[in-house]
Amino acid sequence: MIEAGDNNSADLCAVAPMGLLAELTHRCPLQCPYCSNPMELERSSGELSTEDWARIFKEAGELGILQTHLSGGEPTVRKDLEEILKAAVDAGIYTNLITAGVLLSRERLEGLVDIGLDHVQLSVQHVDAKLADKIAGFKGGYSKKVELAKWVKELGLPLTVNSPMHRHNVEYLEEIIEFAVKLGAERLEVAHIQYYGWAFENRHTLIPTKEQVYRNADTVDEARERLKGIMSIDFVVPDYYAVRPKPCMGGWGSSFMTISPTGKVLPCHAAASIKGLEFENVKDRHLRDIWLHSSSFNKYRGTDYLPDPCKSCEFREIDFGGCRCQAFMFTGDAKNTDPACSKSSFHKDLLEIAERESKLEPKEFLYRKFTKQPQPTK
Ligand code: SF4
Ligand code: FES
Repeated sequence: MIEAGDNNSADLCAVAPMGLLAELTHRCPLQCPYCSNPMELERSSGELSTEDWARIFKEAGELGILQTHLSGGEPTVRKDLEEILKAAVDAGIYTNLITAGVLLSRERLEGLVDIGLDHVQLSVQHVDAKLADKIAGFKGGYSKKVELAKWVKELGLPLTVNSPMHRHNVEYLEEIIEFAVKLGAERLEVAHIQYYGWAFENRHTLIPTKEQVYRNADTVDEARERLKGIMSIDFVVPDYYAVRPKPCMGGWGSSFMTISPTGKVLPCHAAASIKGLEFENVKDRHLRDIWLHSSSFNKYRGTDYLPDPCKSCEFREIDFGGCRCQAFMFTGDAKNTDPACSKSSFHKDLLEIAERESKLEPKEFLYRKFTKQPQPTK
């Protein structure tokens, strides 16, 4: 039950989050240069135990969470994935495994399905095997993904293909759509990279041109029409070319929470990039308490804190002023209007940077690694 008093905005939040992103580990065999994990990756020595995750899912079920995304890094790196999954299933939570698909055997996948796994989301970097391996910094990944998709379908599970879009695959969208259809995906996410964290460091080599993004939008429109009843397609434009911002997270602290491998509870997966926010650890406090009363969830909950132009804007309850992480990344203050909005005084600069960098010669990737030294592209 919500107790008024800690922060008036808390009264406005949903009684319970709908989704929980469970980052089981930051370990991953892939090294994608746009990884959404933080620059300071959390090491395996500090990871939550099997018992911790079992308690988390029990509390999540009590809190009313409906679905969880078992993610990472690569969640299948965890040897206790089966026990963690079982805890979520026992709590009555819908389970989605987000995987790069390069480590799972058919036998292990079958075991996960037997426990009650509901859905698989597979990342696809490119339709060209060599380019896919180069983007992921991992050799032989492509064929393993094809194999995994086949098993997922044979075992009767729904499949989402997630293809993060950037300059190195943006011209291949039609082929990627056909590839996802061939894999039997019911849903394809064509999500242009958003530039914070690792992607921000690689922005100069990842950002596509505005024309490429607009062409992508037309391709998606045409494919949606053609593939009605076969595969649905979600399309996300990069903030840098948006006119209005996305309602990020459906509003801060309104429907979603992330738990990091060491137990930090975050209002969004990139929230650690906002300097000055303090995050509670699920080892110290009940999940419900953190959701309702922690300073990090309450700081940007609701819309009362928003300054102008959002304060007096008719879209304030629709997009909630956009993305806090993008606002912090670009303006230095997370409560500012998201610069993706054309009403932001920073909007022109955002577009100018995108247009300039997208025309530069691509440079080497800074691959996602536990040490963030520049790595030469092979
Ligand atoms: Fe949304 Fe704020 Fe822009 Fe209005 S001014 S459209 S509320 S981001
Ligand atoms: Fe953090 Fe948008 S990614 S609020």
